[in-house]
Amino acid sequence: MERHFTLGEFIIENQKDFPYAKGELSALLSSIKLAGKLVNQQINKAGLAEILGKIGKQNVQGEAQAKLDVIANDIFIDTFRNRGEVCGLGSEELEDIVIFDDEIHRDSKYIILIDPLDGSSNIDVDITVGTIFSIYRRVSPVGGPVTPEDFLQPGSKQVAAGYIIYGTSTILVYTSGNGVNGFTFDPGIGSFFLSHPNIKFPKKGNTYSINEGNYVHFPDGIKKYLKWVQELNEEENRPFTSRYTGSLVADFHRNMLLGGIYLYPQGTTAPQGKLRLLYESNPMAFLTEQAGGKATNGSERILDIKPRDLHQRVPFIRGNVDMVEKAESFLSQF
Ligand code: AHG
Ligand code: MN
Ligand code: MN
Repeated sequence: MERHFTLGEFIIENQKDFPYAKGELSALLSSIKLAGKLVNQQINKAGLAEILGKIGKQNVQGEAQAKLDVIANDIFIDTFRNRGEVCGLGSEELEDIVIFDDEIHRDSKYIILIDPLDGSSNIDVDITVGTIFSIYRRVSPVGGPVTPEDFLQPGSKQVAAGYIIYGTSTILVYTSGNGVNGFTFDPGIGSFFLSHPNIKFPKKGNTYSINEGNYVHFPDGIKKYLKWVQELNEEENRPFTSRYTGSLVADFHRNMLLGGIYLYPQGTTAPQGKLRLLYESNPMAFLTEQAGGKATNGSERILDIKPRDLHQRVPFIRGNVDMVEKAESFLSQF
């Protein structure tokens, strides 16, 4: 019988290859796994538990919060408060960082950044949503208070990142800098099992994902690129196919498994694009590179950007290297 690793077994098996991880990173990933199961449970019964809909408030970014945004955010914070692996947490839903400075957290070396519920506009219509996470080693001395600098590190300093996709099945995908692996949740057993080992972008992709309703606001280079992907060229397999759900996690997951490009460029209504560098673009860029792809803001590697503030937004283009470089060449010409 073929051996199916659980996520827990896989982490232990692989941590010897990972320079930082002793038991701490394993314990941290196990907290993410636990919080993910709790969020998964809430999402699956959302219509029955009367937790669909908006709460009538806005988050720090001026976006309407859904009940499940708040529930998922609380689940992750409570999970990390109850366990000692991180000394601080930043969330897309909160203006400021959460500092854990009691005895059980004080000696922790790690901080975490989360988008607790990604694609929340899709919750009420039963379309795939996700959770995105990103982990750094703190730069301030262990034992003292965590500082904003611990959170404002370039994405290249991430020690691990990943997402949980709550789709037709629930899958946890992560990297700790040694490839990308995906684990499918078996709800009968309550465990995640390795189902997508060593994920790599296929050599060729022909899917593009972008909110084309924003066309009029895009830079000329993106407009010209979109016309190019829609041209007939049988040799180059064009026109490409368009797929866009409005949940980054879903669009990202599909394009990584099947090949493709995802774009959320700048536009006049969102001068820096919409996606948040710390909670969305950096973790997705780390995964992209680990899967053999490329992630850029149009001219600069996402992972090299030095963040200025917690909720900073960036234009985001990622996918198969050749597809991303083609888009960049249009941006540099027009
Ligand atoms: P969130 O639900 O965490 O605020 O993220 C929504 C993001 C991302 O998931 C998605 O790719 C993008 O917003 C969709 O934006 P548009 O609706 O503007 O296309
Ligand atoms: Mn999001
Ligand atoms: Mn979100």
